[in-house]
Amino acid sequence: MSETILVTGSSGQIGTELVMNLRKIYGNDHVIASDIREPNAEVMESGPFEKLNVMDRPQIFEIVKKYKVTQVYHLVAMLSATAEKVPEAGWDLNMKSFFYIMELAREGHLKKVYWPSSIAVFGPTTPRINTPQHTIMEPTTVYGISKQTGERWCEYYFNKYGVDVRSIRYPGLISWKSEPGGGTTDYAVDIFYEALKTGKYTSFLKADTGLPMMYMEDAIRGTIELVEAPAEKVKIRSSYNFSSLSFTPEVLAQAIQKEMPDFSIDYNPDFRQAIAETWPESIDDHFAREHWGWKHNYDLNDMVKDMLKNLRTKLNIK
Ligand code: SER
Repeated sequence: MSETILVTGSSGQIGTELVMNLRKIYGNDHVIASDIREPNAEVMESGPFEKLNVMDRPQIFEIVKKYKVTQVYHLVAMLSATAEKVPEAGWDLNMKSFFYIMELAREGHLKKVYWPSSIAVFGPTTPRINTPQHTIMEPTTVYGISKQTGERWCEYYFNKYGVDVRSIRYPGLISWKSEPGGGTTDYAVDIFYEALKTGKYTSFLKADTGLPMMYMEDAIRGTIELVEAPAEKVKIRSSYNFSSLSFTPEVLAQAIQKEMPDFSIDYNPDFRQAIAETWPESIDDHFAREHWGWKHNYDLNDMVKDMLKNLRTKLNIK
C-alpha cells in the first residue's frame, strides 16, 4: 500500500526541504505539508498544504482522516534560544503536540512516526568530545528538557504500545533553501548570508566554541533512510546520535575565507554562548552507522562551497 505522509512544521528549516524530497519519492499528492505559516512557493505549488496549528488536536485528526495519512513527520518545535525566553509556551508546544501525534499512532491511525530530537538533550555533565549514544543527559535548557523527555516517551510508546517511532538527535543544520529560526546553532547559517551581503560577520558565539553540525543534504537523506529502514534495523527507539561535521566559528570563518579571502569575522557572544557551552563538541554516531547504514557525504569544505554557490544564485550576488 502506498504511503501518505503528513509533515508538521513544514515551513521550517527542515520541513521546507524534507517535503520536497518526500514528494519526489512518494508523489506530490502523497505528502501533505502543514504549518501555521505559509510555505514557500515551491512547497505551496507542488502539492497539498494545510494551515495547521498543532495545538489544535481535533484539526490534526481531521487532516489525518481527510488524506488517510499513514506516516507523520512531526517537525514542529520551538528551538533552544526562543524557548528560553518563553519557557512555558516552549514546553507546551513541544510536548503537547508530541502527545497528540503519539496518541494517534497508539490508537492505530498511523503506521509510523518520525520525531526529531537534538544535541540539546545533552548537558554540562555530558562528556563533550565524541559524546556517546548512552551517557549522562542532564539538559539545562527548556528545549533540551523537552527533547530529552520526548525521547523517553518515544521509547515508551515503542515498548509499551508497539508504536513504530523513529528519531534522530540532529546537530546544528546548515541550509540555503530555508533559514533556521531561534536556535543556538543559527550562526553557522547567518554567517553565509552576511559573508555574501556585507563581507563580514559578528558571531554571537565565541571563536573557539565547537559544536556538531551537518549539511542539510546529508540530514534529509539520513532522515528518510532511517524512516525507510526495515523495522528490525532500528534498534534504538529513543533517538539516534547522528553526526558528520564539528567546527568552531573560527574554523568555519577560515573555510569561508578560502573561497572569499576578504571575508572577516569578529565576536560578540550573547546569551546563546551559555547554551552552546552545555552542548557536545562532537558526537559518536556509530550505532546509526552500524544499525541502518548512516553515512555522511559532505565535509566542511564541500559544504562551504555548496552553500556559497547556491546562496549566490538565491540572493542574486555575483
Ligand atoms: N539547532 C537547534 C538549536 O540550536 C539544536 O537542535 O536550537
